[in-house]
Amino acid sequence: MMNRRRILTLAGATGASTLAMPFVRPSWAQSGAVRVGLLLPYSGTYAALGEAITNAMQLYVTQQGGKLGGRAIEFVKVDDESAPPKATENTTKLVSGEKVDVLCGTVHSGVAMAMAKIARENGLPTLIPNAGAEAITRAMCAPNIFRTSFGNSQVGDATGMAMLKAGVKKAVTVTWKYSAGAESVDGFKKSFLKGGGEVIKDITLPFPDVEFQSILAEVASLKPDAVYSFFAGGGALKFMKDYHAAKLNEKVALWGAGFLTDGVEKAAGPAGDGVKTALHYVDSLDNAENKKFIADYTAAFKKAPDVYAVQGWDSMQLLRVGLEAVGGDVTKRKDMFPAMAKAEFKSPRGPFKLGTSHNPIQNFYLRELRGGENKYLGVAAEMLADDTTGCKMA
Ligand code: BEZ
Repeated sequence: MMNRRRILTLAGATGASTLAMPFVRPSWAQSGAVRVGLLLPYSGTYAALGEAITNAMQLYVTQQGGKLGGRAIEFVKVDDESAPPKATENTTKLVSGEKVDVLCGTVHSGVAMAMAKIARENGLPTLIPNAGAEAITRAMCAPNIFRTSFGNSQVGDATGMAMLKAGVKKAVTVTWKYSAGAESVDGFKKSFLKGGGEVIKDITLPFPDVEFQSILAEVASLKPDAVYSFFAGGGALKFMKDYHAAKLNEKVALWGAGFLTDGVEKAAGPAGDGVKTALHYVDSLDNAENKKFIADYTAAFKKAPDVYAVQGWDSMQLLRVGLEAVGGDVTKRKDMFPAMAKAEFKSPRGPFKLGTSHNPIQNFYLRELRGGENKYLGVAAEMLADDTTGCKMA
């Protein structure tokens, strides 16, 4: 299977000429298009997440007439397969091989860490449309790296607050054994233990395994009030379905970081009913940007957007702010990055702004999945910032 594909030139046909002279980097004025390298998963358990991010980016740019800051945008895609061992090579393909002007990725925290290390070294404008790896906006923070999504512990923290409020006292955590799962569980414990909750066991399985039977049997024998879980994409759907098939939902409430239900609401069917989560987005948010976003995305792609699409959309909003500040000259980094750091715009999730480490400060919403829809139950945490420990902007 091919894991690398070129895609769309949204305005102007510069792709062929750029391809014809791969070792010459023309100045921006001559080249026409800003080349945005997308390092995202297009295969595996996170494939749908990569697709949603890409769709929303493409839609945003199309709606801007194919240009941001007066420059045509050309996307170049690499399937990162959510595979950390291949991350350095895949990032290098975009940076050194394709000579992209902007780097954008990714979903999986382990892949994002390798990408961010390269981005820190070369100073390319870099947008993170999902991966919540905390170090990227803590000790590894950098003037050129911007996250439009969340920090992993931010989501766990908000969910822990909501579980305490709902009266959960004893919990078991279940997640994949990799940095995003570990950081999500740490965030959950931060608020849950502080508020008097007890975690009786942390259970993990390797990423991206979906053999949940023995874990579900163990949870049943531990008899907690609730499970806190971190799963996303195909694995999240399988977890909810297996949980329901084992009838565990009748005894132990299933909670999770909102990735558990986002993008798989409809596919979960009755297995999703009653699953509660917290996340920085819920489809029913009553703001004009969200309503238009849902209508346009659904019309374009014949399916509803999700949180990953929102993050992709906002990555392009942020890039637009940066490019507008420098008249489209992506080499003017000294002016571009401060403009992006200060950016405030309307997002489908509500008002968008970044903290000092370039991670969003945002509301987290309590949701309950019912009848294939995440229902809004209230605000779980208001304008929650991530810890910026260790972040020193050069
Ligand atoms: C992560 O690896 O950071 C991640 C993946 C999917 C959803 C949320 C976070």
